[in-house]
Amino acid sequence: MKTIVTDSTEEAARFIREGGTVAFPTETVYGLGADVFNEFAISKIFSAKQRPADNPLIAHVGDVSQIELLARDVPDPARAFIERFFPGPLTLVVPKADKVPSIATAGLDTIGVRMPSGKVTHEFLKACGTPVVAPSANVSGRPSPTDWESVLEDLEGKIDCILKGEPSRVGLESTVVDCTEDVPVVLRPGAVSIEQLRKVVPETVAITETDGAAMRSPGMRHKHYSPKAKVILVDPTDVRRASACRGSCAFIGLSAPPDNSSLTMIVDSTEEYARELFGFFRLCDRKGIGTILCETVPEEGIGTALMDRLRRAADSMLGP
Ligand code: TXA
Ligand code: MG
Repeated sequence: MKTIVTDSTEEAARFIREGGTVAFPTETVYGLGADVFNEFAISKIFSAKQRPADNPLIAHVGDVSQIELLARDVPDPARAFIERFFPGPLTLVVPKADKVPSIATAGLDTIGVRMPSGKVTHEFLKACGTPVVAPSANVSGRPSPTDWESVLEDLEGKIDCILKGEPSRVGLESTVVDCTEDVPVVLRPGAVSIEQLRKVVPETVAITETDGAAMRSPGMRHKHYSPKAKVILVDPTDVRRASACRGSCAFIGLSAPPDNSSLTMIVDSTEEYARELFGFFRLCDRKGIGTILCETVPEEGIGTALMDRLRRAADSMLGP
Protein backbone atom coordinates (compact mmCIF):
# COMPACT_ATOMS: atom_id res chain seq x y z
CA MET A 1 0.00 0.00 0.00
CA LYS A 2 1.25 3.49 -0.80
CA THR A 3 0.86 6.01 2.01
CA ILE A 4 -0.03 9.50 0.69
CA VAL A 5 1.37 12.37 2.78
CA THR A 6 -0.65 15.57 2.32
CA ASP A 7 -1.37 18.91 3.93
CA SER A 8 -4.82 19.09 2.35
CA THR A 9 -7.58 18.42 4.90
CA GLU A 10 -10.00 17.85 2.00
CA GLU A 11 -7.80 15.20 0.36
CA ALA A 12 -7.28 13.43 3.71
CA ALA A 13 -11.02 13.54 4.52
CA ARG A 14 -11.83 11.95 1.15
CA PHE A 15 -9.90 8.84 2.23
CA ILE A 16 -12.06 8.61 5.39
CA ARG A 17 -15.28 9.02 3.40
CA GLU A 18 -14.15 6.26 1.02
CA GLY A 19 -13.43 3.78 3.84
CA GLY A 20 -9.68 4.35 4.23
CA THR A 21 -7.35 4.98 7.19
CA VAL A 22 -5.85 8.43 7.81
CA ALA A 23 -3.37 9.61 10.44
CA PHE A 24 -4.13 13.19 11.53
CA PRO A 25 -2.77 15.74 14.00
CA THR A 26 -4.45 16.54 17.31
CA GLU A 27 -3.29 18.73 20.21
CA THR A 28 -2.44 15.62 22.29
CA VAL A 29 -0.80 13.13 19.87
CA TYR A 30 -1.41 12.08 16.25
CA GLY A 31 -4.38 9.72 15.76
CA LEU A 32 -5.04 6.98 13.19
CA GLY A 33 -8.61 7.47 12.02
CA ALA A 34 -11.44 5.68 10.24
CA ASP A 35 -15.19 6.28 9.80
CA VAL A 36 -16.87 5.15 13.05
CA PHE A 37 -19.69 3.50 11.07
CA ASN A 38 -17.43 1.49 8.73
CA GLU A 39 -16.44 -1.84 10.30
CA PHE A 40 -14.01 -2.83 7.56
CA ALA A 41 -12.18 0.52 7.78
CA ILE A 42 -11.92 0.10 11.57
CA SER A 43 -10.51 -3.41 11.19
CA LYS A 44 -7.68 -1.88 9.11
CA ILE A 45 -6.71 0.33 12.09
CA PHE A 46 -6.31 -2.72 14.33
CA SER A 47 -4.15 -4.55 11.79
CA ALA A 48 -1.96 -1.55 10.87
CA LYS A 49 -1.18 -0.89 14.55
CA GLN A 50 -1.08 -4.56 15.55
CA ARG A 51 -3.49 -3.46 18.25
CA PRO A 52 -5.11 -6.06 20.55
CA ALA A 53 -8.81 -6.40 19.61
CA ASP A 54 -9.88 -5.95 23.26
CA ASN A 55 -8.72 -2.33 23.37
CA PRO A 56 -11.55 0.14 22.54
CA LEU A 57 -11.11 3.22 20.34
CA ILE A 58 -11.98 6.87 21.01
CA ALA A 59 -14.47 8.55 18.66
CA HIS A 60 -13.52 12.09 17.58
CA VAL A 61 -16.11 14.69 16.64
CA GLY A 62 -15.76 18.01 14.79
CA ASP A 63 -18.87 19.37 16.40
CA VAL A 64 -20.61 18.80 19.75
CA SER A 65 -23.86 17.92 17.92
CA GLN A 66 -22.22 14.74 16.50
CA ILE A 67 -22.08 13.27 20.03
CA GLU A 68 -25.77 12.35 19.56
CA LEU A 69 -24.74 9.91 16.83
CA LEU A 70 -22.43 8.06 19.24
CA ALA A 71 -24.02 8.19 22.68
CA ARG A 72 -27.26 6.59 23.85
CA ASP A 73 -27.33 9.06 26.70
CA VAL A 74 -25.14 11.93 27.91
CA PRO A 75 -25.20 11.94 31.74
CA ASP A 76 -25.20 15.32 33.51
CA PRO A 77 -21.53 15.27 34.63
CA ALA A 78 -20.50 14.55 31.01
CA ARG A 79 -22.61 17.51 29.84
CA ALA A 80 -20.87 19.75 32.35
CA PHE A 81 -17.40 18.59 31.20
CA ILE A 82 -18.35 19.09 27.53
CA GLU A 83 -19.51 22.61 28.27
CA ARG A 84 -16.26 23.48 30.05
CA PHE A 85 -13.53 21.53 28.22
CA PHE A 86 -14.60 20.75 24.61
CA PRO A 87 -12.76 21.18 22.32
CA GLY A 88 -9.73 20.01 24.31
CA PRO A 89 -7.55 17.13 25.55
CA LEU A 90 -10.38 15.25 27.29
CA THR A 91 -12.21 11.98 26.46
CA LEU A 92 -15.56 11.16 28.08
CA VAL A 93 -16.77 7.56 28.35
CA VAL A 94 -20.58 7.46 27.95
CA PRO A 95 -23.19 4.80 27.07
CA LYS A 96 -22.82 3.79 23.39
CA ALA A 97 -25.53 4.22 20.75
CA ASP A 98 -26.66 0.91 19.23
CA LYS A 99 -25.72 1.83 15.68
CA VAL A 100 -22.01 2.24 16.50
CA PRO A 101 -20.42 -1.08 15.47
CA SER A 102 -19.06 -3.10 18.36
CA ILE A 103 -15.59 -3.43 16.77
CA ALA A 104 -15.13 0.31 17.52
CA THR A 105 -15.51 -0.21 21.26
CA ALA A 106 -14.04 -3.72 21.55
CA GLY A 107 -17.49 -5.07 22.42
CA LEU A 108 -18.16 -2.62 25.28
CA ASP A 109 -21.53 -0.91 25.55
CA THR A 110 -19.78 2.37 26.32
CA ILE A 111 -17.85 4.70 24.03
CA GLY A 112 -15.07 7.27 24.54
CA VAL A 113 -15.91 10.59 22.90
CA ARG A 114 -13.57 13.50 22.32
CA MET A 115 -13.58 16.80 20.43
CA PRO A 116 -9.96 17.73 19.77
CA SER A 117 -8.86 21.35 19.31
CA GLY A 118 -6.70 22.91 16.58
CA LYS A 119 -7.58 24.49 13.24
CA VAL A 120 -6.30 21.72 10.94
CA THR A 121 -7.87 18.99 13.12
CA HIS A 122 -11.19 20.80 13.17
CA GLU A 123 -11.19 21.40 9.39
CA PHE A 124 -10.35 17.74 8.77
CA LEU A 125 -13.09 16.38 11.06
CA LYS A 126 -15.65 18.76 9.55
CA ALA A 127 -14.71 17.61 6.04
CA CYS A 128 -15.06 13.93 7.05
CA GLY A 129 -18.74 14.53 7.76
CA THR A 130 -18.78 11.64 10.24
CA PRO A 131 -17.22 10.98 13.66
CA VAL A 132 -13.78 9.40 13.31
CA VAL A 133 -12.52 6.65 15.62
CA ALA A 134 -8.81 6.96 16.26
CA PRO A 135 -6.25 5.43 18.57
CA SER A 136 -2.80 6.99 18.72
CA ALA A 137 -1.04 6.53 15.34
CA ASN A 138 1.86 4.38 16.56
CA VAL A 139 2.55 0.66 16.35
CA SER A 140 1.08 -0.73 19.62
CA GLY A 141 3.53 -0.56 22.50
CA ARG A 142 5.69 2.20 20.92
CA PRO A 143 5.61 5.80 22.17
CA SER A 144 2.65 7.76 20.73
CA PRO A 145 3.63 9.98 17.77
CA THR A 146 3.71 13.73 18.37
CA ASP A 147 4.68 14.71 14.80
CA TRP A 148 3.86 13.36 11.33
CA GLU A 149 7.39 12.07 10.76
CA SER A 150 6.97 9.67 13.71
CA VAL A 151 3.74 8.37 12.17
CA LEU A 152 5.59 7.74 8.90
CA GLU A 153 8.34 5.91 10.82
CA ASP A 154 5.81 3.45 12.32
CA LEU A 155 3.06 3.14 9.69
CA GLU A 156 4.40 3.89 6.18
CA GLY A 157 2.89 1.39 3.73
CA LYS A 158 0.28 0.26 6.27
CA ILE A 159 -2.21 3.17 6.09
CA ASP A 160 -3.75 5.19 3.25
CA CYS A 161 -2.84 8.73 4.20
CA ILE A 162 -1.06 11.03 6.65
CA LEU A 163 -2.42 14.55 7.13
CA LYS A 164 0.57 16.76 7.93
CA GLY A 165 0.14 19.32 10.68
CA GLU A 166 2.13 20.98 13.43
CA PRO A 167 3.77 18.89 16.17
CA SER A 168 1.27 18.17 18.96
CA ARG A 169 1.07 20.99 21.51
CA VAL A 170 0.38 18.81 24.59
CA GLY A 171 2.41 15.70 23.73
CA LEU A 172 0.58 13.22 26.03
CA GLU A 173 -2.71 11.44 25.31
CA SER A 174 -6.03 12.89 26.52
CA THR A 175 -7.46 12.57 30.02
CA VAL A 176 -10.04 9.74 29.94
CA VAL A 177 -13.00 10.10 32.33
CA ASP A 178 -15.67 7.43 32.80
CA CYS A 179 -19.00 9.25 33.10
CA THR A 180 -21.27 6.20 33.03
CA GLU A 181 -21.87 6.13 36.79
CA ASP A 182 -22.84 8.79 39.31
CA VAL A 183 -19.26 9.60 40.25
CA PRO A 184 -16.92 10.45 37.34
CA VAL A 185 -13.73 8.34 37.42
CA VAL A 186 -10.46 9.41 35.79
CA LEU A 187 -9.21 6.29 34.00
CA ARG A 188 -6.15 7.91 32.41
CA PRO A 189 -4.56 11.20 33.53
CA GLY A 190 -3.86 13.84 30.87
CA ALA A 191 -3.55 17.58 30.32
CA VAL A 192 -6.97 18.26 31.84
CA SER A 193 -6.04 17.64 35.46
CA ILE A 194 -8.20 16.16 38.19
CA GLU A 195 -7.98 19.52 39.97
CA GLN A 196 -9.62 21.16 36.94
CA LEU A 197 -12.26 18.43 36.64
CA ARG A 198 -13.20 18.80 40.30
CA LYS A 199 -13.89 22.50 39.80
CA VAL A 200 -16.73 21.36 37.50
CA VAL A 201 -17.81 18.11 39.24
CA PRO A 202 -16.36 18.04 42.80
CA GLU A 203 -17.05 14.29 43.29
CA THR A 204 -14.61 13.27 40.51
CA VAL A 205 -12.14 10.58 41.63
CA ALA A 206 -8.95 9.12 40.21
CA ILE A 207 -8.81 5.40 39.62
CA THR A 208 -5.87 3.52 41.05
CA GLU A 209 -4.47 0.30 39.63
CA THR A 210 -5.86 -1.61 42.61
CA ASP A 211 -9.40 -0.26 42.02
CA GLY A 212 -9.54 -2.33 38.88
CA ALA A 213 -8.24 0.23 36.40
CA ALA A 214 -7.36 -2.64 34.10
CA MET A 215 -10.95 -3.82 34.03
CA ARG A 216 -12.55 -0.45 33.41
CA SER A 217 -9.94 0.90 31.03
CA PRO A 218 -8.78 -1.97 28.85
CA GLY A 219 -5.95 0.13 27.37
CA MET A 220 -4.23 0.29 30.75
CA ARG A 221 -3.67 -3.50 30.73
CA HIS A 222 -1.23 -3.31 27.88
CA LYS A 223 2.39 -2.22 28.13
CA HIS A 224 2.75 1.27 26.78
CA TYR A 225 4.95 4.06 25.66
CA SER A 226 8.18 2.12 25.68
CA PRO A 227 11.27 3.01 23.74
CA LYS A 228 13.69 0.17 22.94
CA ALA A 229 16.16 1.71 25.37
CA LYS A 230 16.01 0.92 29.05
CA VAL A 231 14.23 3.72 30.95
CA ILE A 232 15.33 4.61 34.49
CA LEU A 233 13.54 7.21 36.62
CA VAL A 234 15.70 9.43 38.76
CA ASP A 235 14.77 11.79 41.56
CA PRO A 236 15.98 15.43 41.12
CA THR A 237 18.33 15.08 44.08
CA ASP A 238 20.00 12.01 42.53
CA VAL A 239 20.60 13.29 38.99
CA ARG A 240 24.27 14.20 39.54
CA ARG A 241 24.95 10.81 41.10
CA ALA A 242 23.37 9.02 38.13
CA SER A 243 26.62 9.24 36.15
CA ALA A 244 27.23 5.72 37.41
CA CYS A 245 25.10 4.52 34.46
CA ARG A 246 27.14 2.46 31.98
CA GLY A 247 27.23 2.50 28.19
CA SER A 248 25.45 5.04 25.95
CA CYS A 249 23.26 7.11 28.20
CA ALA A 250 20.70 9.88 27.58
CA PHE A 251 19.00 12.29 29.96
CA ILE A 252 15.75 14.29 29.94
CA GLY A 253 14.65 16.54 32.77
CA LEU A 254 14.68 19.98 34.38
CA SER A 255 18.07 19.74 36.14
CA ALA A 256 21.65 19.79 34.84
CA PRO A 257 22.45 16.39 33.27
CA PRO A 258 24.75 13.71 34.69
CA ASP A 259 28.37 13.95 33.38
CA ASN A 260 28.25 11.02 31.02
CA SER A 261 25.00 11.79 29.20
CA SER A 262 25.68 11.60 25.47
CA LEU A 263 22.24 12.93 24.47
CA THR A 264 20.58 15.50 26.70
CA MET A 265 17.32 17.42 26.69
CA ILE A 266 16.89 20.05 29.38
CA VAL A 267 13.34 21.39 29.59
CA ASP A 268 12.13 24.59 31.26
CA SER A 269 8.77 23.38 32.54
CA THR A 270 6.67 20.29 33.16
CA GLU A 271 4.54 21.29 30.13
CA GLU A 272 7.60 21.32 27.87
CA TYR A 273 8.74 17.99 29.35
CA ALA A 274 5.34 16.46 28.50
CA ARG A 275 5.47 17.88 24.96
CA GLU A 276 8.99 16.57 24.26
CA LEU A 277 9.02 13.18 26.04
CA PHE A 278 7.73 10.81 23.34
CA GLY A 279 9.77 12.52 20.60
CA PHE A 280 12.88 12.21 22.79
CA PHE A 281 12.22 8.49 23.32
CA ARG A 282 12.06 8.01 19.55
CA LEU A 283 15.21 10.08 18.99
CA CYS A 284 17.07 7.91 21.52
CA ASP A 285 15.98 4.75 19.70
CA ARG A 286 17.14 6.13 16.33
CA LYS A 287 20.53 6.88 17.88
CA GLY A 288 20.82 3.46 19.50
CA ILE A 289 20.93 4.81 23.07
CA GLY A 290 21.05 2.00 25.66
CA THR A 291 19.70 3.75 28.76
CA ILE A 292 17.49 6.83 29.16
CA LEU A 293 17.49 8.56 32.54
CA CYS A 294 14.26 10.51 33.13
CA GLU A 295 14.01 12.97 35.99
CA THR A 296 10.82 12.66 38.05
CA VAL A 297 8.46 15.66 38.57
CA PRO A 298 5.92 16.61 41.25
CA GLU A 299 2.51 14.99 40.69
CA GLU A 300 0.35 18.03 40.15
CA GLY A 301 -1.25 19.51 37.02
CA ILE A 302 0.18 17.78 33.95
CA GLY A 303 2.89 16.32 36.20
CA THR A 304 0.42 13.57 37.18
CA ALA A 305 0.01 12.48 33.54
CA LEU A 306 3.74 12.79 32.87
CA MET A 307 4.63 10.58 35.87
CA ASP A 308 1.99 8.04 34.76
CA ARG A 309 3.64 7.74 31.31
CA LEU A 310 7.16 7.71 32.79
CA ARG A 311 6.25 4.86 35.16
CA ARG A 312 4.70 2.85 32.34
CA ALA A 313 7.81 3.27 30.22
CA ALA A 314 10.25 2.67 33.07
CA ASP A 315 12.25 -0.45 33.79
CA SER A 316 13.29 0.80 37.21
CA MET A 317 13.86 3.70 39.56
CA LEU A 318 17.40 4.61 40.58
CA GLY A 319 17.57 3.31 44.12
CA PRO A 320 19.10 5.03 47.15
O1 TXA B 1 -5.28 11.92 23.08
C1 TXA B 1 -5.81 10.87 22.77
O2 TXA B 1 -6.70 10.35 23.47
C2 TXA B 1 -5.36 10.18 21.48
C3 TXA B 1 -5.76 11.09 20.30
C4 TXA B 1 -5.49 10.47 18.97
O3 TXA B 1 -7.10 11.44 20.44
N1 TXA B 1 -5.92 8.88 21.36
C5 TXA B 1 -5.50 7.84 22.13
O4 TXA B 1 -6.13 6.65 21.82
O5 TXA B 1 -4.66 7.94 22.98
P1 TXA B 1 -5.62 5.24 22.37
O6 TXA B 1 -6.48 4.26 21.65
O7 TXA B 1 -4.18 5.13 22.18
O8 TXA B 1 -6.03 5.24 23.87
C6 TXA B 1 -7.40 5.19 24.22
C7 TXA B 1 -7.55 4.88 25.69
C8 TXA B 1 -7.22 3.46 26.00
O9 TXA B 1 -6.59 3.39 27.26
C9 TXA B 1 -8.61 2.81 26.02
O10 TXA B 1 -8.66 1.64 26.77
C10 TXA B 1 -9.45 3.91 26.63
O11 TXA B 1 -8.92 5.09 26.07
N2 TXA B 1 -10.85 3.78 26.22
C11 TXA B 1 -11.39 4.01 25.00
N3 TXA B 1 -12.71 3.73 24.98
C12 TXA B 1 -13.02 3.31 26.23
C13 TXA B 1 -14.23 2.86 26.87
N4 TXA B 1 -15.37 2.77 26.20
N5 TXA B 1 -14.17 2.50 28.17
C14 TXA B 1 -13.01 2.59 28.86
N6 TXA B 1 -11.83 3.01 28.33
C15 TXA B 1 -11.84 3.36 27.03
MG1 MG C 1 -2.26 4.56 22.24
